[in-house]
Amino acid sequence: GPATREANPSATAADRPIGFGRIQRKEDPRFVRGKGRYLDDIVLPGMLHGAILRSPMAHGRIVSIDTTEALAHPKVHAVVTGKDLEALNLAWAPTLSADVQAVLATDKVRFQGQEVAFVVAEDRYAARDALELIDVEYEQLTPVVDARTALAPGAPVVRDEMEGRTDNHVFDWEAGDAAATDAVFARADVVVTQEVVYPRVHPAPMETCGAIADYDAVDGKLTLYETTQAPHAHRTLFAIVAGIPEHKIRVVSPDIGGGFGNKVGIYPGYILAVVGSIVTGRPVKWVEDRSENLMSTSFARDYIMTGEIAATREGKILAVRTNVLADHGAFNATAQPTKYPAGFFHIFTGSYDLEAAHCTVTGVYTNKAPGGVAYACSFRVTEAVYLVERMVDLLADELGMDPAELRLRNFIRPEQFPYPNKTGWEYDSGDYEPTMRLAMRMAGYDELRREQAEKRARGELMGIGISFFTETVGAGPRKHMDIVGLGMADGAEVRVHPTGKAVVRLSVQSQGQGHETTFAQIVAEELGIPPEDIDVVHGDTDQTPFGLGTYGSRSTPVSGAAVALAARKVREKAKLIAAAMLEARPEDLEWEKGRWFVTGDPTQGRTMPEISMAAHGTIELPEGVDGNLDAEVTYDPPNLTFPFGAYICVVDVDPGTGHVTVRRFVAVDDCGTRINPMIIEGQVHGGLADGVGMALMELIDFDEDGNCLGGSFMDYLIPTAMEVPDWETGHTVTPSPHHPIGAKGIGESATVGSPPAVVNAVIDALEPYGVRHMDMPCTPARVWAAMQGRATPP
Ligand code: CDP
Repeated sequence: GPATREANPSATAADRPIGFGRIQRKEDPRFVRGKGRYLDDIVLPGMLHGAILRSPMAHGRIVSIDTTEALAHPKVHAVVTGKDLEALNLAWAPTLSADVQAVLATDKVRFQGQEVAFVVAEDRYAARDALELIDVEYEQLTPVVDARTALAPGAPVVRDEMEGRTDNHVFDWEAGDAAATDAVFARADVVVTQEVVYPRVHPAPMETCGAIADYDAVDGKLTLYETTQAPHAHRTLFAIVAGIPEHKIRVVSPDIGGGFGNKVGIYPGYILAVVGSIVTGRPVKWVEDRSENLMSTSFARDYIMTGEIAATREGKILAVRTNVLADHGAFNATAQPTKYPAGFFHIFTGSYDLEAAHCTVTGVYTNKAPGGVAYACSFRVTEAVYLVERMVDLLADELGMDPAELRLRNFIRPEQFPYPNKTGWEYDSGDYEPTMRLAMRMAGYDELRREQAEKRARGELMGIGISFFTETVGAGPRKHMDIVGLGMADGAEVRVHPTGKAVVRLSVQSQGQGHETTFAQIVAEELGIPPEDIDVVHGDTDQTPFGLGTYGSRSTPVSGAAVALAARKVREKAKLIAAAMLEARPEDLEWEKGRWFVTGDPTQGRTMPEISMAAHGTIELPEGVDGNLDAEVTYDPPNLTFPFGAYICVVDVDPGTGHVTVRRFVAVDDCGTRINPMIIEGQVHGGLADGVGMALMELIDFDEDGNCLGGSFMDYLIPTAMEVPDWETGHTVTPSPHHPIGAKGIGESATVGSPPAVVNAVIDALEPYGVRHMDMPCTPARVWAAMQGRATPP
């Protein structure tokens, strides 16, 4: 295939930039040499190991639990059941969505894989062996498996422990203007309706979840090593839930082997490790295996969406409307800002200038794992982008128009930014057409359409799929957004040491995104200190300022802004000190990267190392300036940032087997100011692979008894290098007007934007068979069935 267009040129030390640019990742020497320190690498003296007994069935009443034999195992130190936790008032824990979740089941099991008992033993093998010795008697109950029947009269009630609860309803939520939307639909020439399902998938990070709890009974201090994307939020929640004073809790999030939203929540295993350590007086490690991760530790999506799009005959899109049924599993543990039970789904108006829009979302309980995490996306924006980009393609088909042309005609125009959409968002900046045109040029769009026509004439199936997405990342303004009452701000602290080297401390937590490099680059850009002279500290609540952590591509939009502003405070302070050193007035000084000098006399200047030494030295400091070069900022973003992109996917479908090959993928992204293009491309490559996976193979499915059919990598397929093409990436730059350096997030753009491009391409390939829509994942079996005009098989 064609080579990646933006290959990393080997940068020499001489052209290594001080600030933004393509520099090698500071964390790579440790990762490529196997010197990363992940949770399971940590071994504490006297450490014990925990294992969780899980429910074999989706729905059942617990009749009895007998732990006698397990406790008699010579290597077992403790066995904890729901009854034991009830006595500590810890059997149920609050979720991120104002619900509660069983830490260990007391009354019923509500999904296959649910936590039932916890064993603490000398080693992991003994803990696992002892699980077999626990005797649980269940009375099997009929499960609720299909979200569509969850609200049917007479459906079994999943959450019957809740006072007065007689159904499986979680919430109803809406956005937009129903009446105005109905009025536009009533006068539209063309209306297209389609049920679009975004099935249940899983973030499946390379490293599964785990925790090591080390409770010191003497001074009452809990040290908790956790695979977490949000160490500070976890500390606060542990203080609230477990009643341990917050200043006595230290959360350490070491190197994280991928998070993708999977490591945002507090899972029962984390709490059980703490209980295990308190009970035994020893450190306790719990690390889940792959099946536990896939079956019980959260999920993503699971939205059944009925979409409608209204347009004129000429192809002016007027309005979109949707009703969504959201499967939340057995406990409402979805992660999103409190005000938004459907996350940021209401950005489903996409990149188009519409007259009206309206959506309703209904959440239901089923006998499935809870979670609903934002898998590499900003709180349900993935579902939103998928829906609108499928609907636009369906409309193009209905109108007989080219899907690229239809999009180009309906984009929000550059002069309309900041653009208030019809469901309450204000897009900060955008210039969509050049991005789309660049993608079309890179793909050779017209040539591809000619090739497709020739192939169709020969009976070959080639498809071209387009997706144009607008993301909404960097949650978010405190006045609108909180997670369990904690406002979504982030802190940063910059210190310049006497010799001019610096440290920056962050509240966000890298899971592979290269923060140690890019956040040093932000400070380098602002202060002119080389990135290699700046250490980035994160992932330890004892060493970093408070903040809500990394998910939803919010690190750069929120914490990146905090870092830039903290560095600017340092720069201003340096100016006062330089003025004192130069015996000049501060207002007569000018800044060039790394140095203040006297306006009109560039020889009269002081470099940052000279200034930092003076700050910590003996010169008389100006009034009000204390003897350091340190600053701290907590950043409350005024708005989210709205990155966007144009993706074009080319597939070939084997008419005999239904097998889809992604032949080419062109991705043009716009994330505003680019800090490190190499890291950005890496983020995009990973997200595109995610998208191909979801579009073609990933699925957490269930049989009619509620048994999970996606509990291993044999069943839950993720793409490898064999299933993805060489990515062709490009970019445009439209800075965010409200971000200090103009940067928008990029981490998750490609996961959000790519699934519709792949699915649109598959459906485009199947046009000769009259296929207008099929649901993900487009497995060979499903594609083949669609070609036969049959319903989607599982
Ligand atoms: O929150 P998360 O780190 O997952 O997402 P992000 O803020 O979009 O950043 C992902 C990585 O790309 C980080 O290392 C960023 O600093 C980098 N990035 C960049 O170099 N330029 C941008 N405009 C945005 C992100």
